[in-house]
Amino acid sequence: MYYSDDIIEEVRSRNDIVDLIGSYVNLKKKGSTYSACCPFHHEKTPSFHVSREKQMYHCFGCGVGGNVYTFLMEHENFSFPEAVEALAERAGVKLPEQSMSPEAKKQADAKNMIKDMNKLAAGYFHYLLKSERGKKAMEYLKKRGLTDETIVKFGLGYSDMYRDDLYKYMKSKGYSDADLKDSGLVRFDDKYGGSDKFWNRVMFPIIDVNNRVIGFGGRVMGEGEPKYLNTQETPVFDKSRNLYGLNLAKKSKRSGIIFCEGYMDVISMHQAGFDNAVASLGTALTMGQVNLIKRYTDHVYLAYDSDGAGTKAALRALEIMREFEMPARVISLKPYKDPDELIQAEGKDEFEHRIEQAVSGTMFEIQILANNYNQEDPQERTQFQKEAAKRLSLIMDPLERGNYIESVAKEYHIEPDSLKEAVTKYGIAGANRIDTSVFQQRRERKSPEEEKKNKQLKTERLLITWMINESSLFDTLKDIISPNDFFEPIYHDIVGRLFEQYEKEGKVTPASIMNHYQSQEEHQKVSSIMQQDFDMEVSPGEKSKVVTDLVKSVKRKSLDHQLEAAKGDLAKTGQLMLEKAQIEKIKIKLN
Ligand code: CTP
Ligand code: MN
Repeated sequence: MYYSDDIIEEVRSRNDIVDLIGSYVNLKKKGSTYSACCPFHHEKTPSFHVSREKQMYHCFGCGVGGNVYTFLMEHENFSFPEAVEALAERAGVKLPEQSMSPEAKKQADAKNMIKDMNKLAAGYFHYLLKSERGKKAMEYLKKRGLTDETIVKFGLGYSDMYRDDLYKYMKSKGYSDADLKDSGLVRFDDKYGGSDKFWNRVMFPIIDVNNRVIGFGGRVMGEGEPKYLNTQETPVFDKSRNLYGLNLAKKSKRSGIIFCEGYMDVISMHQAGFDNAVASLGTALTMGQVNLIKRYTDHVYLAYDSDGAGTKAALRALEIMREFEMPARVISLKPYKDPDELIQAEGKDEFEHRIEQAVSGTMFEIQILANNYNQEDPQERTQFQKEAAKRLSLIMDPLERGNYIESVAKEYHIEPDSLKEAVTKYGIAGANRIDTSVFQQRRERKSPEEEKKNKQLKTERLLITWMINESSLFDTLKDIISPNDFFEPIYHDIVGRLFEQYEKEGKVTPASIMNHYQSQEEHQKVSSIMQQDFDMEVSPGEKSKVVTDLVKSVKRKSLDHQLEAAKGDLAKTGQLMLEKAQIEKIKIKLN
């Protein structure tokens, strides 16, 4: 690491974690901490907590956690130096020059080179499309109604039929096999050497919000399998955090962002003037993508395919939008399959009309639900109404909920008061709405040795948590317990650092201890300890007893281990036995 510890700590302390995370995730204040649905895993009830006091975050559902650096590393896929740089800029701290680590510099250089290669390849594909060799591809795009202007705007191209056309071109530009290996453009085979990933396809460069080419989609002209081929994940291409067309849509003056499924849909919509359209990159919508657009808009439209798969994808997307409190409306494309077909057939005025007619996500979900039941059959109709009531109960705002109850009652001819009552009765918004996956994980059976080890780890962990939450404990504990009494290496390490910090500064700063750890696994472990809070679980009178028991237990186990190791050494054994006898006298007082 090349930034000094002092710089790292200064940058960290100048970026408040609640402000930082709050710019990505919808945080709600709850007592002394803030909580939200975790941006790193899928959940319905918030188990992601951020503490301003400790300057750390932790998710009790999936275990992620850390300080401001960890957050950016996980959320933006930054390396540690990149996170330092981003936060320094955010806080206006000037970093010393020439301070990237060799490792970080190597990574950054490699990424830049891939972006350069992609740009070169995109230029080459575009050139081919316009040349004689790309005649068929050009005809194909023209047949699909694209203008020259659109083709240039999206940088569309053509990959030639020869198996190594691009490979040879890249080599002629000075790139070696080693350079090309991670680019996703060329594949290598022991027998045949390098060959292009894309041949004889219409090429769609995928451009990120900073206008860099990060990957490609390639479509066969006409029929053929697979219809689309996409760049695999590379150091610069993360499908879950980018959206096709966002580089253009972010500048749109239209209201909201329109999500659709296909590259061609985006292009068609933009050509028709709907320049706020984007698409996922051949995968379902992800939380990372919703997070990304939160910076650009406060409401969205879904223009997903009208078939069964599209409807399913739309329902899933609505769920994610709801978690991020991103208001969503659904555009009906029927009887057409996708936005491209609708625009080709009916023109842009009709599409504009469809946007105006778009229904809210909630109404759409209830519509789909209604279609699943035979409304003529009293039993099925009741079932539908119950399910609708459950769905309505998810609306947190009481006024909004009331309005929806009214609309649904009217649309589906339900007696409004009964529906209202049903929402309360069958509602799953309250106590029943728990993310059960967390509990399933915990219930797995463990072997007795594992149980025992886990118990010891838990004791050590709890004691550390107490030390952090009650730093007055350090004075009492410094003659009783030492880092060596902690068996788990990382706990041993943390305790050492805590003592050191307390001695030097008279207090502990959990988030700065985090600076010392690099791996995600370590961050999770450290953050889970630091983020626990026991005040609610233990009455003030019990505190002293709880801590005393924890100290005794850690100490006892530590001495047992030492006795085991000292077997045969009589003097040492005697000494340890004496110490062990002293344990019973330990009594810790907390107020
Ligand atoms: N897709 C993919 N791989 C495939 C098929 C589809 O990655 N084999 C992705 C592409 O991003 C495509 C999107 O899913 O744009 C939607 O697929 P589909 O609806 O089948 O295609 P369209 O976008 O309608 O394409 P076209 O109009 O060119 O047929
Ligand atoms: Mn299509």
